[in-house]
Amino acid sequence: MIIVKLGGSVITKKAIPLTINRKAITQLATTLKESRLPLIIVHGAGSFGHYNAGRFRIDSGGEISNPEGIATTRESMLRLNLSLTKILQEFGLNIYSFPPIALYRDGKLEHHANKVIKEIMRINLIPLTYGDVMLGQKGFRILSGDVIVRDLALLLRPERIIFASDVDGISQEPRKKTPILNELDQGMMPKLSFSKVRNDVTGGMENKVLEAMRIAGHGIDVFFTNGLKGDQLMKALRGEKDGGTVIRGFNHEN
Ligand code: IPE
Repeated sequence: MIIVKLGGSVITKKAIPLTINRKAITQLATTLKESRLPLIIVHGAGSFGHYNAGRFRIDSGGEISNPEGIATTRESMLRLNLSLTKILQEFGLNIYSFPPIALYRDGKLEHHANKVIKEIMRINLIPLTYGDVMLGQKGFRILSGDVIVRDLALLLRPERIIFASDVDGISQEPRKKTPILNELDQGMMPKLSFSKVRNDVTGGMENKVLEAMRIAGHGIDVFFTNGLKGDQLMKALRGEKDGGTVIRGFNHEN
C-alpha cells in the first residue's frame, strides 16, 4: 500500500480563494488510475481550508472555539473533498471518503482505524480523508493532512509515502533556486532553508519535511514529488529514481 498526500498547492489554485485546480486534479486522477497501485489518499486544504482558517484567524497553534470559523472552514473542506471525489470517481477511482474524525479519538488515531482502512481496501475501494478542524485531546484544533499521513504511516506501515505538491522536490535554498536534491537525510536538515508561504496555517513545506523525517525514521521511504507532472508522480509512486526528492527510511534508534 502507498499513502499519497495531495497537497493543497496541487488540487487548488492557491492564490484564488475557494477554487479547485481542475486541470491538475484531472492529471493526477489519470496518473493515479494508471499506476494500478493500492492507494490511500489524504488531501490538504489550499485555498479552501487555509483561506477560511486565515479569515477567521484560526491557526494550528491552540484550541479553537470560534463556532463560525470552525463551521465555515469545515464546510469549505467538505466542498473541496466533494469536488475531488467527483473527479477521481469520473476517472474510475472508486473513492470511499470520510472526515478524519472517523478514525481518531482524543486526538489519536484509534487502533480500529487499521481495520477500517483494510476493509475499505479489501474490496478495492480507495480511502480518502483530509486535513480538517477536529476534536483533539482538548477542544478543536486544525489537523493537518501531513499529520494524518504520519499517523497512518506508523499504524499501517505502507511501502512508501508520497507528498505531491506544486514543486519538483526539496532544494537546499529555494529562494536561490538551487537544484532539487535527489536524496535528503537527517544530517542535511540544518542546512535547508524554506521560503515563507502565505495563506498556510499548518506550517508549509518546513512542517512537511519534519513530518516526513519522522516517518522515514520508522523505516519508510518518503518522496516529495510534483503532482502537476504526471511522469514524475508516476516514478515516485513506483519508488523509482527521478521521482523528486526521496528521504530513505532509516531506524531512528541507530
Ligand atoms: C490543513 O491541511 C487543514 C485545514 C486548514 C483545515 P493541510 O495542512 O494538509 O493542507 P495543505 O496541503 O498544506 O494545503
